[in-house]
Amino acid sequence: MTSRTSFAPERPFPLEAAQIDRFTRLGYLVLPAFLPDDLVERLKPEADRWVDEGLRDASIQACVDPAVQGPPPVLEIELAAHGELVGHPPLMDVLAQLMGPEFVFHHMHSHRQDPGVPGKNWHHDYEQNPQAERTHTMIHTLHYLDGIDAGTAPLAVLPGSQHEVAAKDARDGHGTAELPGEVVIDRLPPGSTVVLHSALFHARRPNPRQGDRPRYLIDTSYCQVGHRWPPVKPFWRHMLRRGRDLGLDRGRPELFAERHFEEYVRPA
Ligand SMILES: [Fe+2]
Repeated sequence: MTSRTSFAPERPFPLEAAQIDRFTRLGYLVLPAFLPDDLVERLKPEADRWVDEGLRDASIQACVDPAVQGPPPVLEIELAAHGELVGHPPLMDVLAQLMGPEFVFHHMHSHRQDPGVPGKNWHHDYEQNPQAERTHTMIHTLHYLDGIDAGTAPLAVLPGSQHEVAAKDARDGHGTAELPGEVVIDRLPPGSTVVLHSALFHARRPNPRQGDRPRYLIDTSYCQVGHRWPPVKPFWRHMLRRGRDLGLDRGRPELFAERHFEEYVRPA
């Protein structure tokens, strides 16, 4: 049976012991209205530029097309507010409470979802080749700049599934269908952040009501140190160097440190 979310305003940070315990057990945490309004308003025009000027497409091509050599012309983190979001101090505080004080930036994706965006099948995003254990934590933070309302594709999560050692697509056969024990996050105020253990199975449920305007969604992911992680972008070294050059680490030397990564391997 599906559980629906109902959110009383909750203190987002510092996290309370019960929130940390819930994240450990269930694999997710919802932080309503977590991002400050002024940051949200500066992120949106940057996301428009990212999509409308073809920068997003260029970034994707640099990842998937072996004929494209080198990094794309612009990275998400080079956009001022996006770069600020990567090391947003309250976000760093939350991650430190969930992962320990040292963690490394893995990647950022910025997108503007058009009305009627299709669903995305059940999957997880924990980076490990092959999937073998869950000794170290990787976290995706999903920033819903517009929140989630009746016109937004909701997020379905399968609490506790982050403890399974499974392939990312192990539940792909279920498509976006309802699964026993799932929780659907379908109502959030603007500027809300959903913190997911990256190994938690989740899906984007298609929205039959087809909203009337696009919705902004930015995700940033981070990995606990003490383990070498697979990068997902061939230009990962360039990305980390730009993060350091731009001072996005705000005094956290591990946030853009190369030593926490394996060599990049292009997917077959
Ligand atoms: Fe995902």
